[in-house]
This record gives sequence, structure tokens and C-alpha cells, in this order.
Amino acid sequence: MPKIVLTDVTKRWGNFYGVDHLDLVIDDCSFVTLLGPSGCGKTTTLRMIAGLETPTSGRIEIGDQVVFDSEKGINVPANKRHVGFLFQNYALWPNMTVYQNIAFGLKNLKKYNKQEIDEIVKRVARVVKIEPFMDRYPAELSGGQQQRVAIARTLAPEPQVIFMDEPLSNLDAKLRLEMRAELQRLHLTTGRTFVYVTHDQMEAMTLASKICLIENGVLQQYDPPLTVYGRPNNLFVADFVGSPSINFIEAAGAQNAESGDMLLTVFDGKPASFRFTKAVSMGAWREEEKRAADAVAQAKAERAKDKKNVEKGNVDKVFDYQIMRVEDDGSVKREPTENDYVIGVRPEMIEIAEEGGLEAEVYSAMPTGMETTVRVRVGNFLLTGVVFGGVTYEIGSKVHVKFKKEGIMLFSRISGKLIGTGGLDV
Ligand SMILES: Nc1ncnc2c1ncn2[C@@H]1O[C@H](COP(=O)(O)OP(=O)(O)OP(=O)(O)O)[C@@H](O)[C@H]1O
Ligand SMILES: [Mg+2]
Repeated sequence: MPKIVLTDVTKRWGNFYGVDHLDLVIDDCSFVTLLGPSGCGKTTTLRMIAGLETPTSGRIEIGDQVVFDSEKGINVPANKRHVGFLFQNYALWPNMTVYQNIAFGLKNLKKYNKQEIDEIVKRVARVVKIEPFMDRYPAELSGGQQQRVAIARTLAPEPQVIFMDEPLSNLDAKLRLEMRAELQRLHLTTGRTFVYVTHDQMEAMTLASKICLIENGVLQQYDPPLTVYGRPNNLFVADFVGSPSINFIEAAGAQNAESGDMLLTVFDGKPASFRFTKAVSMGAWREEEKRAADAVAQAKAERAKDKKNVEKGNVDKVFDYQIMRVEDDGSVKREPTENDYVIGVRPEMIEIAEEGGLEAEVYSAMPTGMETTVRVRVGNFLLTGVVFGGVTYEIGSKVHVKFKKEGIMLFSRISGKLIGTGGLDV
């Protein structure tokens, strides 16, 4: 079974970089989701690995075979890469039965005899639980059943790697949930490597052993789902995963040399302190950040020397986080200094208390039964919290807000990068 290695893979059209110098290792038997906003380069990445799109430069290996290398002029055609591809718009053959649909690709391979084909078709049909419908035509199946036939058809030739590009996006919410569970099981029972494209962060979170989050063709983070959620590399990642969205709070201040705590001002002048769970020295962090920025600049300068180099037209920007306010106070974000920070607070890290902490007012409360999403107002600012259970809050009532002692994130405002996690006292 293969591992997939992408080294410095770029795909550009003119000066538009669809995929920008991507390095990625997809481990054998893993379930990797490619996640990111529309147009970030997910499908392009998948198509390059599958051999349906030719990279501008770079190298791709599947197992011990180099399937693409721009320098050596290697480009193995798609049908020799042993990958299965399931597109968003899986078209089943309408004039063929379920059985014939699944068998079709196998017959074309000319590798199996009739009896072998029959065995394979029955086996994959069992895996996706479609055996009772073998003689039906696609029009006689529900959407979810059709989807399963499409999956069976992809599995039948036993591809080493299975690529899926938003395969569930046509299904209703309930069926999606069911199919997600099926896919997870399928991954276990087939023992194949799954690479799965989605722009649905929930889907990516629940299915993946690792999430590859891309923005503007650039890899933002490649980690297990809970790491992406709990220790996002930057503001973009923090904002992209999690529902309801993370709260951002602007802060300014400096580190106390003795305690190592960050002494900050938040919400237009309220004093606060942030204690790192794992000690961070801001001096050392800034040096490291500068080193990283210099390395990027140097790599760029190196590339610029190459005559064939093309400047990226779709320029990368630091993520423009949003601060939730009750009323737009017309304030514009000023140029950040090194003493400016952004604090990230996941909704479940806000506690609604009887006393202590910050004075706040309930702005809205939405109980769903299992949990309640509460929005509170602190001055002109809004914070979203999630409380477990069907708690009712009266709109306009006075409450107190506290923050958890760990898991709160501190980001640099200049680079948008995560500095560390810890607890926030206001
Ligand atoms: N043939 C092409 N010529 C020029 N630009 C292209 C071409 N194909 C794709 N692109 C651009 O490359 C970028 C990445 O496209 P891609 O299809 O990989 O996005 P995606 O992440 O799959 O988005 P979605 O979630 O909308 O499917 C897009 O901005 C797209 O407009
Ligand atoms: Mg796509």
C-alpha cells in the first residue's frame, strides 16, 4: 500500500497560482481531507495526484513510483496510477442495472474473467450495503443508494488510493451524516488510503485522520482534526474551523518579565492577563518569527532570480479577522505594532457565571435542546458562547462572563500566527 508524497508542487495559469509550492505527505491507509474555501485549490491538488492535471512544477510519488517529476520529465498517465476517483457529479449509467454499473469498469480492465468479476461485484456491493438492489436501474434508487453504487463502482477495481471530490454534497443533511459514517467504516474495512475533498469543515473534522487546510493555493496547516481545532497555526485556520465561529478579541500589551504572563488591555480599556499553559518567551518567539519571515523572503528572492519565475498575481494576505460589535463604531483597524495581539476564544470556553469576571448582558439565546448558543454583549462588543443543555436566558438580563483557564489562543496581529494557548483573566 502506498504513501503519497508531494514535493514543491505548483500549478499556475499565467500568474495565477492555483496551488503554490505544496509539500504534503499522505500516509498509507490514512484518511486525509483537503479543506478550504471555494477556489483555494483542493480539486486541482487532487487532480494533479490522480494524473488528470499536469503540475507546472514539482514532484509526486505514489508508493515507490515517481508519477510526476517536472525536472526529469516524468508524467505517468492517470490510468497507470492505480487511483480511484469519485467526483461530485457521479454519473451512473442510466441504462445499466446496479450490477452492470459496478461491473462495467472491471470488464474494461480485461484483467478478470466472468466469475472473478461476479465475486468482486458482490463483495463491494456488500461493503456499501447495496446487494438487495442489484437488478434495479439508477432511476429506481434513492439519492443515497445511487451514491453508494457510485462508491461501489469506484472500489471495484481495487484502487490503491481512493480520491473523492465532495461526494456527499448532493445529499440532504441526514443522509450526509449517514454516508459519512459509512465512509468511515469503508475506510476501515478496505484499508485503503482515502483523500477526500470538502469545503464543509464539519465533514473534514469528523472524517479525517488528518486535515490539510489550504487557502489561496497555500498550505495553512496539516494536522489531526483536534490539533487544527485546538492549536490552529493562524487566524485564518482558527476562523475556518469550528461552528459557531471562534470569537476574536483585540488586545494590546506586553509580557511581564517575572511571571511570563501577558498583561493586556481588551474591550476598549479593560485590563486582562493571559497565562500561557506552556511557557512562551515573547522575545524568543519574535526572533523565531523574524527568522521564519526572513527565510520566506529569501526563498522568494532566490526564486525571483530564476528567469522562468512568475510573480504570484493572487497575492497572499494576512487574514482579515472580524470583531463582532453591536453597532458599527466606524473604527478602522490601525496598522498593528508588535504589542498588538488577537485573542481567540472558542464558544465553549466562555462561561456564563452569576458573579465575578466581566459584566455582560444577554443579547440573544438560541437553545437547540442539546446545547444553547448564547450571545452576550460586553460594552459594544459581542461574544458567542455555547452552553451545554437547554438553558434558558432572558434577553437583556445581566450576567457575568468568565473565560476558561486553558485553550484560549493568543495570536500575533502582525503575522496572524499563533503564539500559544492558555487562560484569560479579565
Ligand atoms: N483551467 C484553469 N485556468 C485558470 N484558472 C483555473 C483553471 N482551473 C482552475 N482554476 C483556478 O484555480 C483555483 C483553484 O481551483 P479548484 O478547482 O482547485 O478549487 P477548489 O478548491 O476545488 O474550489 P471548490 O470548493 O469551489 O470546488 C480557482 O481559483 C480556479 O478559478
Ligand atoms: Mg473543487
